[in-house]
Amino acid sequence: MRDSDRLLDWYDLHARDLPWRVGPAARSTGVRPDPYRVWLSEVMLQQTTVAAVKSYFERFTALWPTVRDLAAAEDGAVMGEWAGLGYYARARNLLKCAREVASVHDGTFPDTAEGLRALPGIGPYSSAAIAAIAFDRPEVVVDGNVERVMARVHDIRTPMPAAKPEMKAAAAQMTPLQRPGDYAQAVMDLGATICTPRSPACGICPWMDICAARRVGVQADLPVKAPKKAKPVRLGIAYVARRADGAWLLERRADKGLLGGMLGWPGSDWRETPPEPFPPLEADWRLLPEEARHTFTHFHLRLRIAVAHVPETATPQRGDFLPQMAFRPSDLPTVMRKVFDLAQESLQDIG
Ligand code: ADE
Repeated sequence: MRDSDRLLDWYDLHARDLPWRVGPAARSTGVRPDPYRVWLSEVMLQQTTVAAVKSYFERFTALWPTVRDLAAAEDGAVMGEWAGLGYYARARNLLKCAREVASVHDGTFPDTAEGLRALPGIGPYSSAAIAAIAFDRPEVVVDGNVERVMARVHDIRTPMPAAKPEMKAAAAQMTPLQRPGDYAQAVMDLGATICTPRSPACGICPWMDICAARRVGVQADLPVKAPKKAKPVRLGIAYVARRADGAWLLERRADKGLLGGMLGWPGSDWRETPPEPFPPLEADWRLLPEEARHTFTHFHLRLRIAVAHVPETATPQRGDFLPQMAFRPSDLPTVMRKVFDLAQESLQDIG
């Protein structure tokens, strides 16, 4: 039996039941998953875990069941629903991509990796994954889970990321022409459920017999990773103003850069030196004793928080007051939500 067949047999019994997948019964009759749902799941799953993605995926597909629905959505609504998932450029590209598919491709996703790659926000990994999963193209799909599995099955000891080409070659050599979409997801599931980073469950692995690392007992030490660089700390101040009628002073961030397109509290830039005060309006600002802490990909952030009650006549230099009724804290990215949670408590105290 081929190695890929052994894995596919395992997948037929143990595939994770995920909302963008077709169940085993329908799959065996040749039903393909909806390319829109596959694309949406792959964009959400870039840098984010399946556990975190599930509820977002359910909400997005309930609000926007087709790519045309998503293409017609308002930017702010989509950014708000994405809030908390992180890597917000993904959400901006998601909308761009949906609009391009709706307008240029008549609402139908291209069915090849090359065609998909030409769309906004779809890189080499995602185009291969979508082409394989949605259209059963024999593309080589390599994400972090797959790299771990390949490093172990082939006992690849070159440190990451230098080992990427070797991993890809190993993955290519194993990818079958039959059921490549199921195979791609099977390797991912194997990596997520059995061939896990810390203590792989080798005793129940469908590939235990072919695993070169297991044969010599080094599986838990692979893949070898280059040591991580320490992240610098950046500092800033965020200003939370509450108007007498309950409105909040918020600012939509510019599309480019970190948290681009997201709603947030006006404030200073974030730098490695202590920030200069930069209030968005004149008020009796009170600095909270606590700060909001958040870790981004390249730095840790520590945000001081200034709060103030302001009269209805207040005119801000930056940002706009959003009526209490229109403000959903869940629309905020996580760091801004942390600021809100701390500020709200203290504004009640001084209310
Ligand atoms: N990670 C990325 N894509 C995935 C998928 N289709 N299924 C499970 N995990 C994934």
